Amino acid sequence: MTFKIALVGCGGMGRRHAHGYIELRKYFDTVEMMAVCDVHHDVAATVASEIGEATGSTPDIYTDFDEMIAKADLDGVAIVTSTPMHHRFAIKAMNAGLHVITEKPMGLTLKACRQMRDVSKATGNVMAVAENYRRDPMNRLTRALIEAGAIGTPYFALDIGVGSSNGAVMHSTVWRAKKEQAGGAPLDAGVHNADMLLYLLGGANTVFAETTINEKQRTLRPMSEVAPGLAAMYDHRKEDGFSIGDTVEQTAVDTAFAVIRFKSGAIGQLLMTDTSHGQSLGVSTISGSEGTMYRPRSRSGESPRIVRGDGSEVTGDALLDLVPDFELDDITSTLWNGVKQISSYDMDFREIDSKILAYEYLDMVQAAETGGQPEVGPQEGMDALALAYALMESSVSGLPVSIEDVAEGRVSKFQDDIDAEMGI
Ligand SMILES: NC(=O)c1ccc[n+]([C@@H]2O[C@H](COP(=O)([O-])OP(=O)(O)OC[C@H]3O[C@@H](n4cnc5c(N)ncnc54)[C@H](O)[C@@H]3O)[C@@H](O)[C@H]2O)c1
Repeated sequence: MTFKIALVGCGGMGRRHAHGYIELRKYFDTVEMMAVCDVHHDVAATVASEIGEATGSTPDIYTDFDEMIAKADLDGVAIVTSTPMHHRFAIKAMNAGLHVITEKPMGLTLKACRQMRDVSKATGNVMAVAENYRRDPMNRLTRALIEAGAIGTPYFALDIGVGSSNGAVMHSTVWRAKKEQAGGAPLDAGVHNADMLLYLLGGANTVFAETTINEKQRTLRPMSEVAPGLAAMYDHRKEDGFSIGDTVEQTAVDTAFAVIRFKSGAIGQLLMTDTSHGQSLGVSTISGSEGTMYRPRSRSGESPRIVRGDGSEVTGDALLDLVPDFELDDITSTLWNGVKQISSYDMDFREIDSKILAYEYLDMVQAAETGGQPEVGPQEGMDALALAYALMESSVSGLPVSIEDVAEGRVSKFQDDIDAEMGI
């Protein structure tokens, strides 16, 4: 059976989804992209023609989501708009009988996510989240190593992403500067860090954090300056009402320092800011009773590395001796050219990114066809967003907050403004 899907939101990440679909079609013919939609016709048309050239079949172009849902012959939709539309489109799609995969974060706020979760439950349609970092084979290996006790009992994690955007708007996207649109590095990017910490260390109980906006006046700079490695995938997008060089008011938190207590008893420290001028620091480690795991950058293909108390190191293929049963799942293995055991790989970013996106689509389709749950469904999507928003909620209250209370709406002061502004 062919699963018929449409893509809504054809900006930077939407184009990357198109590349993921093109990669998927090299290995599988079970998914077909029937339509693409963006409020900007030419933005959607760029993505449609790229798909057409690569696969021989050009999706139909829409500028209105409701019209697409009514007219196109679909089994599901991939929602890759800016974050405020995720819940609106997901709920409409599920109520129309379609399965959904939405980009991270799952929804604008936890209230939006709860609505999505409830509609998925009521309709029985899949609500998957395209959280990509954990699907990197190196992160699969890292988790297998931790689970096998390769660093002993995990004591604490350091997750430090401290750098400078030189006063630029994140990713040259104005919505990322805005609180009510779920912007700001600690939230928009931090939800990846949150998911990875939970993936590697299990559930978390509480967060205490201080957050701030250090730089309220930002400049819209071209993507070629802000993130040169991604620029080619973002050069077709449109920024309504703004031009390069414009000043943009940043209302989203740009700096967060947090301490997390995991259910296992382990402690995590998460630091994120793009206002660290003259200093760039990236630390991603988990220390335990038998040594420290140095985590590679997601989608770098680099091998994890374990350093023991006596200074000895285990990395590369020697890691596989510690987890002899570790194997990639069948879909990942097919996408990674048939390998089952892997300790590093050498591919360019676009190829890696595309393979992971292909995996995410196939995982969602498998859930839809079997009536099962995708790997990252409402629970996992909400857990990661609740941890990211717990940083904001703790800073507003001045107290440690329970992540479950954030997930279920018992703590929501920071998000109440967003929900009110967006009318939910
Ligand atoms: N997983 C990742 O690594 C990753 C990376 C980047 C972005 N993202 C996520 O992907 C989403 C999109 O981010 P982006 O960087 O592509 O932003 P973007 O601004 O480049 O693209 C969003 C697109 O959605 C379109 N859009 C907005 N409202 C719409 C509507 N009502 N109907 C149709 N189209 C609409 C816009 O015109 C734009 O082209 C965000 O939720 C973001 O957090 C995830």
